[in-house]
Amino acid sequence: MPSSQDMTKKVIIALDVENKEQALALVRELKDARIFKVGLELFTAEGPPLLRALGELGKSVFLDLKLHDIPNTVAEAVRIGVRLGAAMMTIHTSGGEEMMRKAAEAASEESEKTKTARPLLLGVTILTSLRSDDLQAIGMAPDIPGQVLRLAGLAKKSGLDGIVCSAQEIEIARRELGGSFVIVTPGIRPAWAAAQDQKRIMTPSQAIQKGSDYLVVGRPVTQATSPQEAFLRIIEEIEKT
Ligand code: C5P
Repeated sequence: MPSSQDMTKKVIIALDVENKEQALALVRELKDARIFKVGLELFTAEGPPLLRALGELGKSVFLDLKLHDIPNTVAEAVRIGVRLGAAMMTIHTSGGEEMMRKAAEAASEESEKTKTARPLLLGVTILTSLRSDDLQAIGMAPDIPGQVLRLAGLAKKSGLDGIVCSAQEIEIARRELGGSFVIVTPGIRPAWAAAQDQKRIMTPSQAIQKGSDYLVVGRPVTQATSPQEAFLRIIEEIEKT
């Protein structure tokens, strides 16, 4: 059985807070958590100094900016992410093959140049906020599972390291994309936590059993009376998996 140290590397805490003070207070409280997700809201508010502060506290950063632009712009943003020490970054797969390929090349080149670890580049497929009629309205086939697999396949072909997908999609993604492709799943809810606005949820143990490499957990930990206790409870639960 893997040690608890290993399992703490699988749970990413979503820092969905407004500012650096709130973010760092949570990070200090969550002594055993190792990877923190900084999304668009917090990054827009606090930017690179927050990432540097997380690095100084010895934490890894999942920079979840869901990049989507022309290939050169995305590649340059990835280079900056590498220099800021991001361990994981997200890119919209609908930006196309060249965009993803340039991003992957930029990550490798910049890591080598700066002697920093290459971040994992993860593809975002179809946002869970979209329904099939939304896809039709933007001219895409209204088949969500089909589009997810198509975009995930393109991500793999273009040199990305993995995808972010809902826990319901883990098994099919694993089957289609193979064992080494990284799967990251949000929408995780321990049996003892409230579902809140998440609809297609799964417990941490179930998601690990189905083959997820990393779990993204936000409110069940960050809004718990004791975030550290809630985090350790999740780690214990997946250790028994
Ligand atoms: O608080 P909660 O555990 O629901 O947070 C989950 C995190 O994962 C949030 O940062 C949310 O934006 C993100 N996420 C999600 N569902 C997706 C993609 C990302 O909940 N399909």
